[in-house]
Amino acid sequence: MTSNANQYTWAGRFSEPVSDLVKRYTASVDFDQRMWRQDIRGSLAHARMLAKQGIIAAADLADIERGMAIVTEEIESGKFEWSLDLEDVHLNIEKRLTALVGDAGKRLHTGRSRNDQVATDIRLYLRDAIDDIQMLLKAFRSALVDLAEKEAATPMPGFTHLQVAQPVTFGHHMLAYFEMFGRDSERFADCRKRVARLPLGSAALAGTTYPIDREFVAEQLGFEGVCENSLDAVSDRDFAIEFTSACALLMMHISRLSEELVMWMSPRVGFIQIADRFCTGSSIMPQKKNPDVPELARGKTGRVYGQLMSLLTLMKSQPLAYNKDNQEDKEPLFDAVDTVTDTLRIFADMAGGITVRADNMKAALTQGFATATDLADYLTKKGLPFRDAHEAVGLAVKAAEFKGVDLPQLTLEELQQFSPLIENDVFAVLTVEGSLASRNHIGGTAPDQVRAAVTRARARLA
Ligand code: ARG
Repeated sequence: MTSNANQYTWAGRFSEPVSDLVKRYTASVDFDQRMWRQDIRGSLAHARMLAKQGIIAAADLADIERGMAIVTEEIESGKFEWSLDLEDVHLNIEKRLTALVGDAGKRLHTGRSRNDQVATDIRLYLRDAIDDIQMLLKAFRSALVDLAEKEAATPMPGFTHLQVAQPVTFGHHMLAYFEMFGRDSERFADCRKRVARLPLGSAALAGTTYPIDREFVAEQLGFEGVCENSLDAVSDRDFAIEFTSACALLMMHISRLSEELVMWMSPRVGFIQIADRFCTGSSIMPQKKNPDVPELARGKTGRVYGQLMSLLTLMKSQPLAYNKDNQEDKEPLFDAVDTVTDTLRIFADMAGGITVRADNMKAALTQGFATATDLADYLTKKGLPFRDAHEAVGLAVKAAEFKGVDLPQLTLEELQQFSPLIENDVFAVLTVEGSLASRNHIGGTAPDQVRAAVTRARARLA
């Protein structure tokens, strides 16, 4: 029986074509075509190895290289016709290559399967994505350092339980995020080592009968080595899960920062302003300037968590080796890549557009007895056990609250009611500047320490 099943590359053993619905259901070309550069790069490395090993002729390699140059040009210029009939990016490119150069195109797939091909493409794609993310993380972290340096001595209330706790500087607060995003960067660097391993040569699942040279292909593609086991190589997607989990952690950090930006921008708080280009207005309330970008970033965090859960669930219980389930790895992965790269790009820019309202931060610092711990430390240094000092200051806070003032507004006589150890030098301790300057050690919020931390941060970015 002849049928249009024969238009498929694999149609030899089939007697009827798939329905349009099944075709659409099983095809991936709509989304995997974004890996076309990686697919061509992988094919060229494979073809060079085949020629070097004498598996294909030098003339075939020349044809393949010439054909791939044309395919590249066609895709870049938008002339390439992607076809759903050809399922995925791999078959689309191979078919076009064959149309352009004939038999050499048909020889390209010698000793290879789409199973090791797609695993290679995703790894190449992710390695590129990690390199992009690292560049963006660096730009973002350096914008945070710039802001930290500028505001190294700007006092703001530090919070615990969202209640005023102790004074910190805005610079110190920004450097906390520098650390978080630094750990994210380390995680991506670590993940990259496991991404950059070569599956090619594993073929469908068991390896191949040709005298291949996998190390040569790995080297051509800049991989750090080959995947050791063919069954694992074609079915492993740990690297994609690891990557997405690093993305999820990064977005968690982004969402914490976003939450703070939204809060700080609220007119009730008024700690910062964000440049207008990151905000939008309301269609009904003319007075509004909404922090859309941080709000959306907070929202998109859930999206990346979802992609991580999709990938974990996709891999759960899959028997060895390759299963078509794996085709479902791409959309979550690409969405995580897009969300993280867009978010980082915007945040790197937005960090430079933050202006601090130091007056409002200062005012907020007078409203929560922010230097109460300093007073307790003062008494402890004069010989009172810390627990007793804590109790004495608690009573002083209660009295100040009753009077409607902050601790430094109490008179010396009033303060001395809580401890005879209190002397005139107490007022230096009760000021915000005194409080800040006294936390003068690595990791502390003293402006000098923040400046030193900025210097170290710059060195780490270099
Ligand atoms: N489009 C497929 C994927 O993304 C390529 C591998 C297909 N392999 C196969 N034996 N059907 O996983």
